[in-house]
Amino acid sequence: MIDAGSLAYGNAKTTRFMDRGDDEGWLGVQLVGCNHERITRAVEILNQHDFNVLDFNLGCPVPKVAKKGAGAVLGQNVDEAVKCFELIKKLSRHPLSAKIRILDEQDPETTLRLVKGLTDAGAQAIAIHGRVKNKFYAGPVYFDIIAAAREAVNIQIIANGGITSAATYTEIRKKTGCDTVMLARGAMGNPWLFRELSDKDNYIPPNSEELCDEMELHVMEMISYYGETLALRIARKVILDYLRSRGFPGKIKSRVSFLHTTEDFAEFMKIVREGPSERYRQWQKVYPMSDRRLLLT
Ligand SMILES: Cc1cc2nc3c(=O)[nH]c(=O)nc-3n(C[C@H](O)[C@H](O)[C@H](O)COP(=O)(O)O)c2cc1C
Repeated sequence: MIDAGSLAYGNAKTTRFMDRGDDEGWLGVQLVGCNHERITRAVEILNQHDFNVLDFNLGCPVPKVAKKGAGAVLGQNVDEAVKCFELIKKLSRHPLSAKIRILDEQDPETTLRLVKGLTDAGAQAIAIHGRVKNKFYAGPVYFDIIAAAREAVNIQIIANGGITSAATYTEIRKKTGCDTVMLARGAMGNPWLFRELSDKDNYIPPNSEELCDEMELHVMEMISYYGETLALRIARKVILDYLRSRGFPGKIKSRVSFLHTTEDFAEFMKIVREGPSERYRQWQKVYPMSDRRLLLT
């Protein structure tokens, strides 16, 4: 997600969000903003870059974005949201999509007005997070509102919200009728979710070694990209995501806030590689497949 204002007014770091690895073939860039002049300038800059789809954010609820009237706040102002999208359509050389939230939990009408408006303005796909802005990331996902949107337009509707397992993936697809879904928090610290969704009943969770190797690779690549100090600050959340619900005791997790250097991280990994707590091992013996986040060998 790139802020139109930061891009328009030359924050050099902003274009770093568009960097891609040699092995990353497909890149979507998401723009957030509400000021026409800034959007215009930002799209002109984005036109100088190569990527696969330009997405317009109409769903972000965080105060930094909301106080400017962008993201989810702009999404609630359907006419203005569509005007911004029309402007992007007029200027951009990239295929366009939008990311929205549902606007009401009971009545689909306002959400449909937004979805139809964006479709008429040239959106080729719309991802819908099935929670209203005020719920942020908590509570149920309103599948029926997403389903109504899918039935109302002929473009691709991408269902989003609450996918953490093969079961929740099957549920959202069935209840919304959408063939395409978007994963979010479910994949954070659990990139094996993609394997789970394709292998379904044959899915084998990562074992402790695979978990540690992946986490280490992730953090080491962050260090080589961001540099040690910044990387380890950002990586704390990443590390806790990998350790969550996998039986690692609180005393290991509490060490995460004290990781400042690559050496600190290497020492920390030695402890993590000792594996989850004895209590978790006992629990898994009693309920072998109840938790599909870690396979004990
Ligand atoms: C830490 C975090 C960062 C996010 N960043 C973005 C973002 O940049 N753009 C966006 O459209 N949604 C963003 N989202 C929202 C997710 O794409 C998704 O709509 C939301 O988390 C609901 O899906 P989930 O219940 O599967 O997590 C973010 C969510 C989280 C928790």
